[in-house]
Amino acid sequence: MTELPADESPIVPFLRAGPPPDRTRWEGWQQWRAMRGTFTPAPRLSLQEYSALSPRRKALHDLHRTATHVNMRLQETPMSQRVSGFLRGRLQNNAVKFMPGTRDGLMINGGGFQGKTETACDAAATFEDLWRDVHRQLLPRPFPGTRDVFVPVAYCRLPVRAAPKALCKTILDVYGDPYPKNLDDLIRAVRDAIRDHNTTALLLDDITRLRLHREDDQDTLDLIRELMDLNVTLVLIGVDIPHSGLLRDAYIDTATGQWVFPEVKRGKSHNSAAATQTERRFDMVDLDPFDYATPAGITAFLEHLAGIEDQLRLFGSFDGMLTTGAMPEYLFRRTRGIIGLLRRLIEDGCTEAITTGEERLTPELLARTPIRLGNLADLDPEAGEVPDIPADVRPPRQPEGKKSPKPRNTVFDDHGGIQAADG
Ligand SMILES: Nc1ncnc2c1ncn2[C@@H]1O[C@H](COP(=O)(O)OP(=O)(O)O)[C@@H](O)[C@H]1O
Ligand SMILES: [Mg+2]
Repeated sequence: MTELPADESPIVPFLRAGPPPDRTRWEGWQQWRAMRGTFTPAPRLSLQEYSALSPRRKALHDLHRTATHVNMRLQETPMSQRVSGFLRGRLQNNAVKFMPGTRDGLMINGGGFQGKTETACDAAATFEDLWRDVHRQLLPRPFPGTRDVFVPVAYCRLPVRAAPKALCKTILDVYGDPYPKNLDDLIRAVRDAIRDHNTTALLLDDITRLRLHREDDQDTLDLIRELMDLNVTLVLIGVDIPHSGLLRDAYIDTATGQWVFPEVKRGKSHNSAAATQTERRFDMVDLDPFDYATPAGITAFLEHLAGIEDQLRLFGSFDGMLTTGAMPEYLFRRTRGIIGLLRRLIEDGCTEAITTGEERLTPELLARTPIRLGNLADLDPEAGEVPDIPADVRPPRQPEGKKSPKPRNTVFDDHGGIQAADG
């Protein structure tokens, strides 16, 4: 039997004071790196145990359950594994290269809400855990040659419709450095900051927010090249990078499958060393949604659902609540296999299940739960960051108690055109 907390035991160990850490500043990134994966989920109480609690304890337990549902852990999926494997491998390889010069970069491409940001940050943080360990062993502090704090990973997000200056400022913000006035000085400041803080990985998230369809955007492309010439692994993350204009002058090397950015012809480089370098190479890796068209795809989706189910704290929950019967396919049709939409749906479904006292997720309950993306101000629809949410997905009609043990893929069966594209 689960041990019940005494009524006087310390309150809310699961809540944190203050706003969530801002990963785009080095201090916030460190806080986030240290606390990621440390959330303590609510204990699993039976309804009986819950009923025995005082009203105050009940309220706290409900709060803890809610916190558990909105703080579900990142789960590895075959798609995320591929991306994080690529990213960690690239960061490690480049980090142990001692020669100066261009490092091969990485582009992470995928639709909105598919987990690009979380997957990349988690992989970069895992790299940093290792890298800091190595540094502690190699070079006991103080770390020689560094003017400032050691910031091996710099993570930035581009503001909407960013221009070159804004991009530089976003990078300087990581270090809390002041902004020089003109672009040349900004770029120099960026280069100095990256060197002085021993940054080996520079992640530029939402890179497809860069304005890249106008004439003067050549400045932006030139700036990206400047960044490629720094001694960092540049990781560009965005929606539909191939069609963003970012690859305007790049071509694919068919031998390696890499994207190659040829030398700048305009000779406007701020970096003299760059003059001797001919090209910059990038691998592109896609982060795809779940697919329900192959047995392997279905298995991955079911495993993910099982992982979610295990984290839910609903009193009426049962084994296979999300993975059996018509539920998996319904969830797929509601979300098109997009991991972030699935998460939103489950979170809000759980709130509904707790509020109404149903205490379990059913297709009928979820049918009443719209998928809301939360703070849309944070997303740039013009950059394709807001995914289409399927509307009018009818819950399956299935006789009670009849559960097919193995879900069959009927996603592509004709459902009478009920899968409208947009919501
Ligand atoms: N592997 C995963 N397991 C569980 N939840 C995930 C996973 N990847 C992403 N998510 C969730 O999906 C949502 C969207 O992820 P995010 O990384 O912001 O997407 P993107 O950057 O592609 O728009 C977030 O709430 C995130 O926590
Ligand atoms: Mg993102």
